Amino acid sequence: MTEPTSSTKHVPSSLARQTLLDRDLTRPVTDRPPIRLLPWLSVVKVGGRSIMDRGREAILPLVDELRRCLPEHKMLILTGAGIRARHVYSVGLDLGLPTGALAGLAAKEAGQNGHLLAALLANDGVSYIEHPTIANQLAIHLAASRAVVGSAFPPYHHHEFPPAVGRIPPHRADTGAFLIADEIGARRLTIVEDVDGLYTVDPNNPGGRTPEFIPEISASELTASFATLPIDRTLLEVMAAAKHLDQIQIVNGLVPGNVLRALRGEHVGTIIHSS
Ligand SMILES: Nc1ncnc2c1ncn2[C@@H]1O[C@H](COP(=O)(O)OP(=O)(O)OP(=O)(O)O)[C@@H](O)[C@H]1O
Ligand SMILES: [Mg+2]
Repeated sequence: MTEPTSSTKHVPSSLARQTLLDRDLTRPVTDRPPIRLLPWLSVVKVGGRSIMDRGREAILPLVDELRRCLPEHKMLILTGAGIRARHVYSVGLDLGLPTGALAGLAAKEAGQNGHLLAALLANDGVSYIEHPTIANQLAIHLAASRAVVGSAFPPYHHHEFPPAVGRIPPHRADTGAFLIADEIGARRLTIVEDVDGLYTVDPNNPGGRTPEFIPEISASELTASFATLPIDRTLLEVMAAAKHLDQIQIVNGLVPGNVLRALRGEHVGTIIHSS
């Protein structure tokens, strides 16, 4: 008598009987380029510390700038966490909290900055949306509005990777903004800071050296050399595996016109290439 077979073992699929760890077997399926879900979308990451923490003097002109971008560009505007996250890290670290708990707390600060920005753009039809809405309903929100605001932090929370050194969450706002922008196949990611771009040393703390401006560089060149950066180091690792975005641009959001020019594809800051 033949054994009854379970139909679940015979679901027709090119990966059904293969280990997902064998690259040769999975390559014919996995090496196909993914589709771009929202190829017309511009993702703009607004610095928490560099822009939002400066208050009205920096935020109001940037809001005017974003308003000028609206007729031309559909945007996902994502905010970083800034100084309040640094404070919550230090209190949480002192209390012995694990990395995942710190990640959740810092993400809330990034969200608060997003709520501030969205309130100022509400009259233009822009709202703050939470991570699950970005994950599930971004397209419908962008069909109703030219832009939405969210937290740039990735929603890893208690699933955050344990860092090799220390306990600060390694995937922060820049990494989160890149992950979502690359995943949905956005047109570009613009990172808005308070410096003109990348320098050989921190221009606000050069320690006796002369900061030299770097207009263009690859993520792999950056990984090794620089003592400090205006972006998360994990972003550079994530860029190495990018599926769509071949570059990002860091721009000075304190200079009027820069964000709009960057969204138009002009080179106004530092361009970092993915590979
Ligand atoms: N090599 C470098 N080139 C340019 N700026 C640098 C460099 N190293 C450090 N910086 C500093 O990084 C600062 C920006 O800090 P940071 O990236 O922490 O802010 P942010 O992006 O606004 O914060 P958040 O991650 O909370 O959004 C700049 O003002 C600059 O002083
Ligand atoms: Mg930064």
